[in-house]
Amino acid sequence: METRSNEYVKETGRRNGNLSSAERKEAMEQNYDLAIIGGGPAGYTAAIEAAKHGFKTVLIEKDRLGGTCLQRGCIPTKTILHSVSLYAGVKREREKGIFDGEIQFHMERLQEHKRNIILQLQEGISTLMKKNRVQVVTGTGVLLDRHTVLVKGEEENKLSAEKVLIAAGSQTVIPKIPGHNLKNVFTSSELLEKEEIFPTLTIIGGGVIGMEFAALYSGLGCQVTVLEFMDRILGNMDREISQNLKMIMKKRGVEIHTGAKVEEIKEKPDGRLACVYQEKEEKRESVSDGVLLAAGRRPAAEGLFTHEIFLETDRGRILTDENGQTSITGIYAAGDVTGGGMLAHAASAQAVNAVCHMAGMPPLMDLSYIPSCVYTEPEIACIGLNQDEAKKRGIEVLVKKYPMSGNGKTVLSGEERGFVKVIAERKSHRILGAQMMCARATDMISQFSAAAVNGWSLEDLGRIVYPHPTFSEGIGEAVRD
Ligand code: NAI
Repeated sequence: METRSNEYVKETGRRNGNLSSAERKEAMEQNYDLAIIGGGPAGYTAAIEAAKHGFKTVLIEKDRLGGTCLQRGCIPTKTILHSVSLYAGVKREREKGIFDGEIQFHMERLQEHKRNIILQLQEGISTLMKKNRVQVVTGTGVLLDRHTVLVKGEEENKLSAEKVLIAAGSQTVIPKIPGHNLKNVFTSSELLEKEEIFPTLTIIGGGVIGMEFAALYSGLGCQVTVLEFMDRILGNMDREISQNLKMIMKKRGVEIHTGAKVEEIKEKPDGRLACVYQEKEEKRESVSDGVLLAAGRRPAAEGLFTHEIFLETDRGRILTDENGQTSITGIYAAGDVTGGGMLAHAASAQAVNAVCHMAGMPPLMDLSYIPSCVYTEPEIACIGLNQDEAKKRGIEVLVKKYPMSGNGKTVLSGEERGFVKVIAERKSHRILGAQMMCARATDMISQFSAAAVNGWSLEDLGRIVYPHPTFSEGIGEAVRD
C-alpha cells in the first residue's frame, strides 16, 4: 500500500543525483568501508558520522533521500499542521473582533508549498552527502553476504564493503479488514498528497498518526471520527494526556470512540464509506467520504537479505545489541527497521552510536531518554517514565504538576490550557520523566531530557531563571511546586 503510485514522486523526479552508467560501474568497483542501505534519518546521519571517522561510504537509496520523515511523514505533516494552526489562530482572533474579513484556506497552494519544503530539505541532504564525500547510489540494496550488497535498479550491480548498516525504515500496517483497498481509503502518505478536503473523514486508529491527522483535518473544517480499538487514544502515553486530548478534541467537534474495533469497510450506494465497528457488544457504523488507515507501522525488513544471511529478527524487526550490531558481526541496523518507537530522532541517534562502535569509539548519544512528541494542539511531549510505568517498576516517585492555566504566555496567546508534569525519584528527587501538554511542548521537552540525561534533581532544574513571559516558565513552576 505504501508503494501505490504517487504522482508527486513521478513529477518531481526521484533520483538522487543520477549517475551515468559508467559512473555507476566505477562506484560499484570501489571497496567501501561502509555500505548503508536506506537514505532516511538513520542512513544519512550515519553517512555524515562515518565521514568524521574517515570511512569511505556508499549510501544506497531506492527512492529519494530523506526517508519517510521527509517524504511522507514528519516534515509534510508538520508543514500542513503549521498552516492549519495559524489559520485556527487567526479565526480565534477574528471571533474576538481583533481581526475581521474573510480568510480562505487554499489547500492546493499549501500542497505546492509543502512540495517546495521537501525539495529544499532534500537538496540540503544531497549537498551534505557531497560535502562528506558519500557516494549515493540509486537502487534497492540486498545483502548477499557479510560484505556484498547487490544493488537492483535499472541495472544490477554488486558492491563490497567492510561493514554494512541496514537503515531501511518502516511501512504502514494495512489492517486485514475487508474493504481496506476501496476507493477513498488511504494511508497517511496517500492522504497527505490530496488537495481535496473531504467533508467527513473516519480515522481507524487513535495513535500518534491518527490523532495528528484528526487535529489537521478538523482544523480544516472536516467532520472527523476516530475509531480506536484500545480503551483510550494515545494508548502508550500518560493516561491524563489521553483523557485531556480526548476532551479537547471532542470540544472541537471530533467524534472519538474507544474500545471500537473496526471489522469492515463497506461502500454505500451513494459512494460514501461505512466503517463497521464493534463497540461494547454493539455493531455500529461510521459513514464518511474518506477513511484513513492509521493502525500502526511495521519494520520494512522484507527482501533485504538472501537466504544465506541469517539475521535474528523478532516479528519482522531486526534485533541488535546496545551498539546497533545485529547477530552477525559487522552488520548493523538502526532506525524503524529495528522496531521500537519508530521516531526520526531515535533513528539518527542509534545510527550515530552504531558508527561510533564501528570506529571503535564509545557511543556519543545517550539513548535512555528518547522524547516522544505529538503535534496536536496543544502539543504533547514526553520523556522517561510516567506515573503508571514507575508504579509498575516499583519505583517510589514524587509527581509535580503545574497547570498551564496559570501561565501568562498561555493566557495571553489564547492557547489551550494543558499541564507540565514531572516524575522524580522520591528519595533523591532525581528527574526520571516528564509529560507536557501545552504550546511549544515539543521544543521545551529537551530541558527535561537534559536534566534526566545529566542526573539532575528537581532542585537543580528549579535553580534556573526562566524569562517572563514564556511558556517555559511552566517548567520552573512545576519543578519548584
Ligand atoms: P500507533 O501504533 O501509535 O497507533 C495505532 C492505533 O491503531 C493503536 O492504538 C491501535 O490500537 C489502533 N488500531 C489498530 N487496528 C485497529 C482497528 N482495526 N480498529 C481500531 N483501531 C485499531 O501507530 P500510528 O499512529 O500509525 O504511528 C506509527 C508509528 O509512527 C508510531 O510508532 C509513531 O510513534 C510514529 N510516528 C511518530 C510521530 C511523531 O513523533 N510525531 C508522528 C507519526 C508517527
